[in-house]
Amino acid sequence: MRAMPIPSDHPLLLSIVDDLAVQGWSQQNIFLPEALTLELAAECRKRAAEGELAPAAVGRGPAQEIREGIRGDHIQWLEAGQAAICDRYLALMDNLRLAMNRGLFLGLEEFECHFAMYPPGAFYLKHVDRFRDDDRRMVSAVLYLNDAWLPEHGGQLRMYLKNAVEYDVDPVGGCLVVFLSGEMPHEVLPANRERLSLTGWFRRRGNEPF
Ligand code: OGA
Ligand code: MN
Repeated sequence: MRAMPIPSDHPLLLSIVDDLAVQGWSQQNIFLPEALTLELAAECRKRAAEGELAPAAVGRGPAQEIREGIRGDHIQWLEAGQAAICDRYLALMDNLRLAMNRGLFLGLEEFECHFAMYPPGAFYLKHVDRFRDDDRRMVSAVLYLNDAWLPEHGGQLRMYLKNAVEYDVDPVGGCLVVFLSGEMPHEVLPANRERLSLTGWFRRRGNEPF
């Protein structure tokens, strides 16, 4: 495996840190080179074809429920050591974690992420990424894996910014959106084609038993 080309003091990572400090979110349209995005997309599609993606649940712990009226995506959590391309992404996100800790003093200790596939028509209603009973999720990071996505395909990430401003992001392959998990209400609009992403959360350590 080649070394990750992006160290934790890379300007791309520092500009994400700056954006988070100034406005609480960041959009990087060319975060990953196309070859890496294509490889991650192929890995996601392979897992979907093998039936490894399962309907996502809402909530956590014993209160988890599958509710397609709230979110209709299918997911699989990444584990280290399954695929070289995923390990490269995890290494890159670890450098982003270090950059955020250095610049924002967030004390982030972990990153968890899952592939997500939204079938045509699926959506995720407006929500925040922090659970009511668990405030460990500090920063959300969504990487899009879609080839040749056009605005008319739908599937935008709609963020509800301050002062009632709505901001939509097209889920174009290679684009990364990062935001403060507890402060950014957002939703996924339905698309008329399959929509792939790799969605993750940086967490600080909690003192919970599970
Ligand atoms: C999520 C989410 C956004 C997206 O999985 O919590 O909000 O654009 N995803 O896929
Ligand atoms: Mn979310």
